[in-house]
Amino acid sequence: MRHVTPDNLDAVEGVRAYLASQEKKSLLRFLTCGSVDDGKSTLIGRLLADTRQIFEDQLAALEQDSRRHGTTGDEVDFALLVDGLEAEREQGITIDVAYRFFATPKRKFIVADTPGHEQYTRNMATGASTCDLAIVLVDARQGVLRQTRRHTVIASLLGIRHIVLAVNKIDLVGYDQAAFESIVAQYRAFAGKLGFRTIEAVPISARYGDNVSQPSQHLGWYEGPTLVEHLETVVVDDEAVEQPFRLPVQYVNRPDLDFRGFAGTIASGSVSPGDEVVVAKSGKQARVKRIVAQGGDLDRAVAGQAVTLVLDEEVEVSRGNVLVAPSARPQVADQFSASVVWFDEQALRPGGLYLLRTATDQASATVDGIRHRLNINDFTEEGARTLELNEVGVVTISLRAPVAFDSFAENRATGAFILIDRITNATVGAGMIRHGIRRADNIHWQSLDVGREARAAIKHQRPAVLWFTGLSGSGKSTIANLLEKKLHAAGRHTYILDGDNVRHGLNRDLGFTEEDRAENIRRVAEVAKLMADAGLVVIVSFISPFRSERRLARDLMEKGEFIEVFVDTPFEECVRRDPKGLYAKALKGEIDNFTGMDSPYESPENPEVRLQTLGRTPEEMVEAVERWLTERDIAQDQYESGGGI
Ligand code: ADX
Repeated sequence: MRHVTPDNLDAVEGVRAYLASQEKKSLLRFLTCGSVDDGKSTLIGRLLADTRQIFEDQLAALEQDSRRHGTTGDEVDFALLVDGLEAEREQGITIDVAYRFFATPKRKFIVADTPGHEQYTRNMATGASTCDLAIVLVDARQGVLRQTRRHTVIASLLGIRHIVLAVNKIDLVGYDQAAFESIVAQYRAFAGKLGFRTIEAVPISARYGDNVSQPSQHLGWYEGPTLVEHLETVVVDDEAVEQPFRLPVQYVNRPDLDFRGFAGTIASGSVSPGDEVVVAKSGKQARVKRIVAQGGDLDRAVAGQAVTLVLDEEVEVSRGNVLVAPSARPQVADQFSASVVWFDEQALRPGGLYLLRTATDQASATVDGIRHRLNINDFTEEGARTLELNEVGVVTISLRAPVAFDSFAENRATGAFILIDRITNATVGAGMIRHGIRRADNIHWQSLDVGREARAAIKHQRPAVLWFTGLSGSGKSTIANLLEKKLHAAGRHTYILDGDNVRHGLNRDLGFTEEDRAENIRRVAEVAKLMADAGLVVIVSFISPFRSERRLARDLMEKGEFIEVFVDTPFEECVRRDPKGLYAKALKGEIDNFTGMDSPYESPENPEVRLQTLGRTPEEMVEAVERWLTERDIAQDQYESGGGI
């Protein structure tokens, strides 16, 4: 929402000076929460209306003041704010939350407006992840309700340190001081234990505007600030700037061959040219050469700023990785303990498989176990087998691939995550990491001197991972086998990883449940990665039925190295061919979880190569793959073709 449009600004001269003062004003992000009928939307409406008034008065005063300068509008200021929010939206953290922007002469505000009664907790938690303060609304007639407690606990878990208890509809209790004070006492008795830095209680009537931006004549007994006054003056320290440097890399900016920068919003700390930084997951170190930002290079950038870092050395930093201070590295682990707020109708159960997303990274995740559930009335820890809708608990989570993180207590940005249901794509939980678990503690990536390029160069080839996916009996193994024979004859160093074969050894402990298949793919993807690192052309032939696991495999490899080959044979044809007699058995009910029958196959959406096998020979299929590779100079002799490595 913009209250100042370039149009009406055109009318205002001297606006540059005014905007300069605007830019220096601090920004407070907050959200409103409370029970359904406590008056959240009325309050937001009231705040917007009242402050707009203030804002426009200010502009009118300015208009009279001076007619000296030209006009440029406030585009930079306002647009930057909006951009920051866009970035969050991209991270998937603020879905379903609308942001309202307003300002008073003293401060700028963003209020996370979390609409809808349904799934309110989810919206609230998503909104809260970036807020400094929460206004907890209670109805003066109702006092502190279950929802009030729940939202307060969630706000505390999500790292909010400042609370305003807005006792609303005070007009409906006759502006009664005793009613107000008894609610405040009740609230403080429980919220006092939650580690908030400030809890300010304000009686208001959002409907009539009492004590929102104007003091109320009905509230003579009240000596504190109005709600807006408090919002304007509450001190929220920007702790993020004091913390160690973290830049989650949102994308690699490479407009041309001469420029390569790592773009993202600094999550914490600060950085200057000349600083050493480390890539969290690989341990590679380099020095910052330039800090590029909108409007020119910077000498220093701090938490909250969107920047592009140019380093003095070519190091690999993929999207999802984090650039950090060498002296204070985050943990890199694939298992941790975390507090979770659960939003889904379907309860969280141990063993459940989800997609976990951090500020920029993601990985397939399993909830190993629930340590306890938090009783939100008395804060006791209860044993629990599940976490139901809106419940809060502490769980242990295992990931299929390590991510870089800090504990939430140390860093709100790099210590938080969300859990996503892999089928419905809905956000089902928000998590705050407590600590990494043994298997990754104190393990840092060791940087080695003989690199993948060197290993590949000796073989005169460029490593590649040809990932064959398709139904059982679709022809993957036959085609893969024939392809390897031809590549081998041409002097390529190859290796086939075949589902059935790998399941005889490395993966002999795995069956065909969804979890086992995910683990099957995780392991083979890791092996393929090692082989590609060793310089080989790897052919993987696994059903690999799930999109998310294939995606994880793709993300593991270097850019351009993963070539997804979809062996597209219709289910009926696979049943007809039935080379191993397995479909016949599955039809008789002798095999459970058979792909295509009682276990799903998710076809690739954008495979690099799609082989429609119906009516074609395996030789024709292999030629199609070879043509694709040749056109891209992959699996050629890099030495003879002069193609470089
Ligand atoms: S994946 O789904 O986990 O990628 P993978 O490729 O390793 O599967 O193994 C599939 C092979 O296991 C099939 O070619 C088939 O021979 C055999 N198999 C045994 N049971 C099943 C089943 N329930 N579903 C699919 N394949 C099965």
